[in-house]
Amino acid sequence: MKESSSAFQSIALLQFSPVRSDPEQNLETIAGLLKRTGADVVVLPELCSTGYFFTDPDELRPMAETPDGGSLCSLVRKHASEQGCVLCAGFAERNRQQIYNSAILAFPDGRYHIYRKSHLFYRESDVFRPGDTGFSVHEWNGVRYGVMICYDWRFPESCRTLALLGCDVVLHPSNLVAPASLWRPTMQTRAIENRIVAATANRTGTERVEDEVLEFSGESQIVDCNGTALAIGSADGEEVVEAQVDISRCRNKAFNAYNDILRDRRPNLYLNEAP
Ligand code: ACM
Repeated sequence: MKESSSAFQSIALLQFSPVRSDPEQNLETIAGLLKRTGADVVVLPELCSTGYFFTDPDELRPMAETPDGGSLCSLVRKHASEQGCVLCAGFAERNRQQIYNSAILAFPDGRYHIYRKSHLFYRESDVFRPGDTGFSVHEWNGVRYGVMICYDWRFPESCRTLALLGCDVVLHPSNLVAPASLWRPTMQTRAIENRIVAATANRTGTERVEDEVLEFSGESQIVDCNGTALAIGSADGEEVVEAQVDISRCRNKAFNAYNDILRDRRPNLYLNEAP
């Protein structure tokens, strides 16, 4: 098992273009990309083994998997334990007849956690059940990790909930169709407002269903807790995007002698619902 300081962590985002409906090909690509990094933390995109754009649950269901027996989850768990890294990957999760847009977060000691996407985007609601796990934080080697998936980025509550739970690093498997000029600065803001590291692994390429084409924006990004983008991928390349982050700075939520972004909150003045 790798010995690394809990203050500095290397994070790698594996950016590529999954082939729709071809898990075998995608697993081969993922295995090849995994060989190219020895980072402490590795993040893969949303739905990285099946592709993204499905409108019929009956088409996706045969490729959906259970976390304990499925081929993507087995690869992820095996790699995490063999390489001593934390690994997070998006996949289609089958639970009886239901399908969830999920992510597995696997640790070197064999533990794993499943997050089911809270906010479904566009035609995902034709295929997936809305996530019911909620947000949670999981610790390895002194670092606290939380997961959100793609469109969860539009909701500041996602990162804020994770930060309130003590998260240091938000792992963010994505298939973003929004322009990178929109979501990248937003994720920098999420990092600033919560003093967390934000690691978005976004896919590239296009997918077509009938006459509708979705284009994915790439530019996978690692942001430190001051909002600085430490590494940014290209718009369309298959690549490993890596940066070294100082996790210890996430624990200090104060930015001067008077202000601490979590302590200064006034929750009794905030609304949960429109009146
Ligand atoms: C998205 O949530 N995949 C845009």
